[in-house]
Order: sequence, then C-alpha cells, then structure tokens
Amino acid sequence: MKIAVVGGTGTVGAHTVGALRERGHDAVALSRANGADVAKGEGLDAAIDGVEAIIDTTNLSTLSANASVAFFEAGTRHLLAAAERAGVSHLVTLSIVGVDRMPYDYYAGKMAQERLVAAGAVPWSIVRATQFHEFAAQIYRQAGFGPIHLAPRARLQPVAAAEVGGYLAEVAVGAPQGRAREIAGPLEEALDQMVRDYAATLGERVWTPSVSLPGKQMKALRSGLGLPSGEPRRGSQTYAEWLSSRRA
Ligand SMILES: NC(=O)c1ccc[n+]([C@@H]2O[C@H](COP(=O)([O-])OP(=O)(O)OC[C@H]3O[C@@H](n4cnc5c(N)ncnc54)[C@H](OP(=O)(O)O)[C@@H]3O)[C@@H](O)[C@H]2O)c1
Repeated sequence: MKIAVVGGTGTVGAHTVGALRERGHDAVALSRANGADVAKGEGLDAAIDGVEAIIDTTNLSTLSANASVAFFEAGTRHLLAAAERAGVSHLVTLSIVGVDRMPYDYYAGKMAQERLVAAGAVPWSIVRATQFHEFAAQIYRQAGFGPIHLAPRARLQPVAAAEVGGYLAEVAVGAPQGRAREIAGPLEEALDQMVRDYAATLGERVWTPSVSLPGKQMKALRSGLGLPSGEPRRGSQTYAEWLSSRRA
C-alpha cells in the first residue's frame, strides 16, 4: 500500500516511515525539506499522487496558541483539500492525550486540527499519544541557556516514539476508525527528572533546576491532565530503557 507520512522526517514521522517499510508498504516521507509545505499548501498534489492513506505527523515548536492554531488549521485545510482531490481513502492524524482537557497554548492548535479532521470529507482516524520519551530531549534543547537547562515540572506517562510510529502504521493500513484508542507508555514519570536523567546520559556539566513554567498548558500538565484516562494501548519501553538504548 502506498502511504504518505507528512512530517515523515521528524521524531515520530521517521519511525512511522520505518515501521511502514518494515511491513512492506511503499512509504513516502513529506516535509518542507522534501518540497512539500502543508502550511503553504505547496508541493502536495504531486507528492500524494497514487497514495491511499496519509499519516499527518507535522509539527510546529511553539507555546503560542495563535501560532499553533494558524499552523495546524492551515496545514490541515491544505492536506484535506489535497487528499480529497487525490481520492485518498484514509487520513490518520496524530494528536495528544488530554488536549480536550487543556485546549491552551500549543494544544489549542491540536484541538483546531482535530476539529477540522473530524469535520472533513476524508475518512479519518485520530490517534492521541502521550508525550514521547524524546520529549525530554526536545525540552532539554529548547530550554537550554548556556550551562542552564530548565527542567519543567509536569506529570507524564511517556511512550517511545518508535512504538507510536508502529501504532500509526497499523492504524493507517486498516479501516478508518474515527477516534482510535489512545497510546501511552508503561509508567508515569516526572518531566523534570526525565530532563535531569537525559542530561546525565549526555555527560554534560549542566545545571537543571526544576521550574514551574507559566502558562495554562504547563499548569494543566503539572496537575496530571496529560495522563491517559480509560484504557490506552500500552507501549512497553520505559523511559529508563529508552535512555539505556541510547547509551548502547
Ligand atoms: N513530541 C511529543 O512528545 C508528542 C507527543 C504526542 C503527539 N505529538 C504530535 O506528534 C506530531 C509530531 O511531533 P514530533 O515531535 O515528531 O515533531 P518534529 O520532530 O518537530 O517533526 C516535525 C516534522 O514536521 C515537518 N514539518 C514542519 N513544518 C512543516 C510544513 N509546513 N510542511 C510540511 N512538513 C512540515 C518537519 O520537517 P521540515 O522541517 O523539513 O518541514 C518534520 O518532519 C505533532 O503534531 C505533535 O503534536 C508529539
């Protein structure tokens, strides 16, 4: 089956492309680096020619609700229109566990994206995942100021991006589900400790103070609104195992 992964060069997108290829599918990775820009609606038609399903794993790094909504609305509208023109029969969108409970800041964009997909004409599945183990590394890079790397407080149940990629591949080759089962990792973790443990594996001499970052989204994550409710699909790799696998 020919499947396009938009954002297929990113953290989870690359794993998704790998999982599809392992299963024998023809996976095409789309991103701006490959000439396809969902926000501008450029390069999509040619890139999804002959594609049966699309998996959307695009991302914008921002804490601004306005920037996030603008990016995810524009990208989703362009993707839906291109998918409809190409006769794509399944759009799988990756979202985040708990976005409906905390539709603030960055998550406002993810909610806007979910609404457009659910109201769109292309048969869809929305998969919500908890934060990836890789999230600690992303935070470490983004919240680093010289030797100081802020370690935000938050309650998470992180999952390996590789396991999310495998699940997205599985969902994409099946029938559209609407809201698919959420996916979460095996254990609850404290984000500030995850950042410290990540820094320790790098062996860098840095200071990683715990901080309560401002903003409604971070406040909601501190109170546990990003933890799964109900019975999610469980990833098996713990954060400690993921860190060890990086050292190996
Ligand atoms: N990180 C987490 O913990 C987490 C947890 C649950 C769900 N999610 C969701 O998973 C998705 C992917 O997150 P990630 O952390 O894997 O993202 P990421 O590593 O930042 O990768 C983003 C991907 O999107 C592409 N992209 C960005 N702007 C684009 C545009 N205008 N047109 C086409 N492609 C574009 C990037 O490639 P180019 O730069 O080359 O365009 C890249 O391939 C996001 O929607 C996020 O909300 C993330």
